[in-house]
Amino acid sequence: MPTESSSKPQARQRVVSGMRPTGALHLGHFHGVLKNWVRLQTMHDCFFFVADWHALTTQYRDKQDRSQIEGNVYDMVIDWLAAGVDPEKATLFIQSRMPEHAELFTLLAMSTPTAWLERIPGYKSQADKGRGVDTYGLLGYPLLQAADILIYKGDHVPVGEDQAAHVELTREVARRFNHVYSPADPILPEPRELLTSNSRLTGLDGRKMSKSAGNAIAMRDAPTIVAGKIRTMQTDPQRVRLHDAGEPARCPVWPLHQVYSDPLTLDWIEQGCRSAGIGCLECKQPLIESIHKEQQPWRERADEYLAKPKQVQWIVEMGTERARVVARKTLREVRSAMGLAY
Ligand code: TRP
Ligand code: SF4
Repeated sequence: MPTESSSKPQARQRVVSGMRPTGALHLGHFHGVLKNWVRLQTMHDCFFFVADWHALTTQYRDKQDRSQIEGNVYDMVIDWLAAGVDPEKATLFIQSRMPEHAELFTLLAMSTPTAWLERIPGYKSQADKGRGVDTYGLLGYPLLQAADILIYKGDHVPVGEDQAAHVELTREVARRFNHVYSPADPILPEPRELLTSNSRLTGLDGRKMSKSAGNAIAMRDAPTIVAGKIRTMQTDPQRVRLHDAGEPARCPVWPLHQVYSDPLTLDWIEQGCRSAGIGCLECKQPLIESIHKEQQPWRERADEYLAKPKQVQWIVEMGTERARVVARKTLREVRSAMGLAY
């Protein structure tokens, strides 16, 4: 008998993750997030979306900020595709095209104590900063995130450590919902976070790579730009002249080498730096080459999509429709459990 139940085939677990549209992505996004998505898409049913509503929780005031969101959305999706996220394997879409998330957010709000949201780290610190960000949207941010996840009955949520509290809240919200509305037959599974390794890529200045710190190399930076950025990087401050011995541990180039270079090259650097046997530009050259090589396939894929922007829209359109089928099914169950099936 065909059933309307939403039980999933045992083998395929669902992965849900969203990313705020910050525009073109950098190497830190690739190593921290996208590489992982590309791996996950081969094993699980993946739902990856642009969290543009979440962007509005802090970027709602400034017209300039708002008008940038659209361009940022497409730049970001192109970088997902460039990295090898495959629309045939994963479902890619845009949050604001899915009003179903907003409906679930509203329904979950009925059983979620405000105190759960107030105690989320991040909310208090942001709200304390004032600047008009002490809004209801910001308070509700983690609940919207819970709706994003629960609407697909996500089993796994790949996120950075800063988001672990949100996934924990998602579990509590699901548990409470099930307990209140459907104790005999729980509807919303409790998801687990898949913590992205905390080996964050460092940027050009040795601090964590981020767009706002201005220390990033974009995935699609042209080869000459990459070379220029690396060549002008600070090195060990105690290595002023070529014949001064250096110490890789004091040098911001070194952590990048540890990501990009093989053990032989690493040995060559450690010895050459400490004995003043190699120059800093010489040391930087293999790094430049490795990044160029890594970028090559990204650039080829991105160029194809840049030449056919309609195709990117189409990919997102298809993804949105695929996601909608799943979201609607969950909503039917939720409405019915809440007595809203009239
Ligand atoms: N809050 C997440 C971030 O800033 C983005 C996000 C929104 C998300 N909804 C999500 C992540 C659902 C995972 C699952 O990174
Ligand atoms: Fe840094 Fe390499 Fe120069 Fe040593 S040789 S200081 S590791 S750039």
